[in-house]
Amino acid sequence: MIHFYHVTKRFDQYSTALHDITFHVEKGEFVFLTGASGAGKSTMLKLILRQMQPTEGQVVVNGRNLKAMKRSHLPPFRREIGMVFQDFKLIERMTVFENLSFILTVLGLPPREHKKRAYAALRAVSLHHKMNAYPLQLSGGEQQRVAIARALINDPLVIVADEPTGNLDPDLTQEIIQIFNEANLRGSTVLIATHDRELIERSGRRVITLDHGRITDEKAPVPQRAPRAETLFGIGG
Ligand SMILES: Nc1ncnc2c1ncn2[C@@H]1O[C@H](COP(=O)(O)OP(=O)(O)OP(=O)(O)O)[C@@H](O)[C@H]1O
Ligand SMILES: [Mg+2]
Repeated sequence: MIHFYHVTKRFDQYSTALHDITFHVEKGEFVFLTGASGAGKSTMLKLILRQMQPTEGQVVVNGRNLKAMKRSHLPPFRREIGMVFQDFKLIERMTVFENLSFILTVLGLPPREHKKRAYAALRAVSLHHKMNAYPLQLSGGEQQRVAIARALINDPLVIVADEPTGNLDPDLTQEIIQIFNEANLRGSTVLIATHDRELIERSGRRVITLDHGRITDEKAPVPQRAPRAETLFGIGG
């Protein structure tokens, strides 16, 4: 679903954000991307969205080689991807509902469906009571949840999120991860960049670690063990 082949991204002679990166995320996977500040996580996500092009190497997403992709194919390609940006990118002069309605228009949904869709998406992040608020009237964590609702509103093929829980307390973090889990169960492939070690370890998901633009570690998902009979029925011990 997401394939990097020997990808290098150089910004200038002093700054190489990614060095010869090769990795693959298959359809239906849920993968965390981690690494220190400046390791190259956001750069990787921007390459997936084709907000920028690699200096060397190839990126293939949803079966499309992004290097060869025509400009006219970019909007339909981006509609297949739900993106949560590190800085949310909500439109400040629009209410929460209008922000979502705007995306639904881009996605081609008829206006009569917007209220229902927006309400359902906001309900999933517990913000349905804030439909008519403006982004600047919301807390950082609330703005972040609107950004997540917007990214997930149409069950995209791929969900790419940059620090989606960065401003949230531990309870909300678990709630948000649950929302990504559910989107994953409905079929979306999920890639989340995060610093949050505890979140990653608790999830048991596959992890790709970046260090100064290189993949230094790849952990396979922890197999989910069935609970033992003793725990289920309170027998023994
Ligand atoms: N537009 C740019 N021009 C020059 N250098 C850049 C540009 N964007 C990113 N970089 C550099 O590339 C490196 C990787 O940046 P990136 O934003 O991908 O890191 P990150 O892992 O997302 O960090 P953080 O956890 O702080 O968000 C950094 O050294 C950064 O300074
Ligand atoms: Mg970043």
